[in-house]
Amino acid sequence: MRNFLLVVCLLMAGYRAGAQPAAPLSARLDKVSLTFALGPDGHPTYAVAYGTKPVLEPSRLGLTFADGKGFDGPLTLVGSETKDVDETWQPVWGEVKNIRNHYQQLTVHLRQPAAKGRLLDIVFRVFADGVGFRYEFPRQPNLQYFTVQDEHTEFNLPGNHKAFWIPGDYDSNEYAYTTSRVSEVNTTPIPAIEQKAPANRIQTPLMLKSDDGLYLNIHEAALVNYPAMFLNVDTQTFCLTSQLVPDGTGTGAKAYLQAPEHTPWRTIVVSDRAPDVLASKLILNLNEPSKLTDTGWIHPQKFVGVWWEMQVGRATWSYSDSSNIKLAGTDWSKLKPNGRHGANTANVKRYIDFAAAHHIPGVLVEGWNVGWEDWVGNWKEDVFDFVTPYPDFDVDELQRYAAGKGVNIIMHHETSGSATNYERRQDAAYRFMNAHGYTSVKTGYVGRIIPRGEHHDGQWMVNHYVRTAQNTADHHIMVDMHEAVRPTGLNRTYPNWLACESARGNEFNAFSTGNAPEHETILPFTRFMGGPMDYTPGIFKLQGYAAAAPGRQVHTTLCKQLALYVTLYSPLQMAADLPENYNQHLDAFQFIEDVPVDWDDTRILAAEPGDYLTTVRKAKGRDEWYLGSITDENARQQPVKLDFLTPGQHYEAIIYADGKGADWQKNPTAYRISKQVVDSKSSLTLQLAPGGGAAVSFKPVKK
Ligand code: NOJ
Ligand code: CA
Repeated sequence: MRNFLLVVCLLMAGYRAGAQPAAPLSARLDKVSLTFALGPDGHPTYAVAYGTKPVLEPSRLGLTFADGKGFDGPLTLVGSETKDVDETWQPVWGEVKNIRNHYQQLTVHLRQPAAKGRLLDIVFRVFADGVGFRYEFPRQPNLQYFTVQDEHTEFNLPGNHKAFWIPGDYDSNEYAYTTSRVSEVNTTPIPAIEQKAPANRIQTPLMLKSDDGLYLNIHEAALVNYPAMFLNVDTQTFCLTSQLVPDGTGTGAKAYLQAPEHTPWRTIVVSDRAPDVLASKLILNLNEPSKLTDTGWIHPQKFVGVWWEMQVGRATWSYSDSSNIKLAGTDWSKLKPNGRHGANTANVKRYIDFAAAHHIPGVLVEGWNVGWEDWVGNWKEDVFDFVTPYPDFDVDELQRYAAGKGVNIIMHHETSGSATNYERRQDAAYRFMNAHGYTSVKTGYVGRIIPRGEHHDGQWMVNHYVRTAQNTADHHIMVDMHEAVRPTGLNRTYPNWLACESARGNEFNAFSTGNAPEHETILPFTRFMGGPMDYTPGIFKLQGYAAAAPGRQVHTTLCKQLALYVTLYSPLQMAADLPENYNQHLDAFQFIEDVPVDWDDTRILAAEPGDYLTTVRKAKGRDEWYLGSITDENARQQPVKLDFLTPGQHYEAIIYADGKGADWQKNPTAYRISKQVVDSKSSLTLQLAPGGGAAVSFKPVKK
């Protein structure tokens, strides 16, 4: 286990017993300060400041339970204590080698006189880059089994900030971001799944920028045994209030809990510099250390896959064009093949050959198993069994072939929303994987959750994802979840949980109007705050790829696709395009071949949400650096000082830059590759085309 404490400094600073009404209690670290108070009416409130600037005005806290009682005030203060913690730990994989966890903690002990003296603690952790807090329900005689009906946590913004938001759909995060003032947030028509919810409901991670220059991110950490938190926006007062995702019973119940228990952490990352928000480790720090002691089998990796050809309509996941097929007892070899099945043995070998030739360790294969004839539109519980291959997919032969070429095939488990079916079959499915040499799986949850219509982001599914992380770990399997709840740093606790999708990925360029050029400059400030995403970058054929829509195009230049391998952090990165499209540009593919997926260090050199981002990272265990720089729809010049390089060492810089006349819309494929020798005193000026980017590798050379 690599998560050991280097330094633990624990200072207990006086237990404070308070009378009513209590004087404000506080905690601070560097510029960030937090105040807690019980108002004259006994309602708990907190406020956050950054230096002299308010981050959150006094904001209410509280919960109501299904029994009508809960902790929505008036409460009395029983006592409080503070402590300081400063420790350093090492992630199994990540953006940096060492992570410092430095905070001051304030715990307040509260009592609910109206409910037989029920007890609640609120724990605040104040970091140099923000605040986390959670509600804790201690073991107590008058609170055993309880149902949270609502949480009333406020984030009371002091101004009408600029916000980067997506609407509050309890089942999907796959939306384009809107940038507007908080007063202009308008999510009507909201996906009408939860009719009673107010229209102005948005999702976290929410990125905000104040007129006085503060960058602010609101999200949550360690989402376990609780529904995801959405935010209701008051467009008049700029107060955001928590909205928990309801369960599938229709009663409005949100979470079924037993004391002792606690909620996830509510997180506020704040800085006056945008790059600091991206560098923040606050959310990871609020997660528990790894539950896995043996992690030697966990390997970040790049992969190609039988995938984009289905996304663009050139092949099918299904083997036949039949439908309504019974899973049990069907002889699949009797079905008439449709002739377009992507996951056939010969085609998979083509991808294995390409991967082996270019040092790409993984090949994802979707559509290998029976059931795809009924995977959408024909919702039923038993669509997939996860162990029966289609007649034209030879499991044993492909296992032999892939192993012979040093490539691993990545398993795919689309559940079609039938999570109960998947849980019943997981053990058999993972044993099948172990027996056939598969070490990682991509899961998926397309459609409403079967059988009870739970939401993807409700408590039941949140627990399903965590159970799946644990069950895969028990079988030494790494997992990448699509359509799961957006991440909250749980990859620290389950380092085999490499990535999630849970946002609008590159695939939207295949089957929809796509992602605007600014999309990838917003994602790191929003979705990626919670953890890695399987974005599937690396499309080289940027126009004329979609069978059904010849005019469709990806909204980036080719070089921006390269830069995404650095600007979007994930231990799992797909090279998503088809081998034949890569073969047209093997000189540019060299960057994908070279770029690592695990790092010792990361520096955010320039960033502004919605506009641009330049990131440089140092390869794990090697003195090699990789830089990615991207812009929105505007062309930009990005100066870069190379002072991150080891002083005295010379490097060969290979610069993959947008070519003359490059433009995401008119000329996306123009690029220019140049080489030069540089050192830590050198600098570069990168020219980014509209919707463009640049990628640079730096490898040590003798002078
Ligand atoms: C949606 C996923 O995001 C995509 O990657 C996958 O190919 C399809 N579902 C089928 O499972
Ligand atoms: Ca912009």
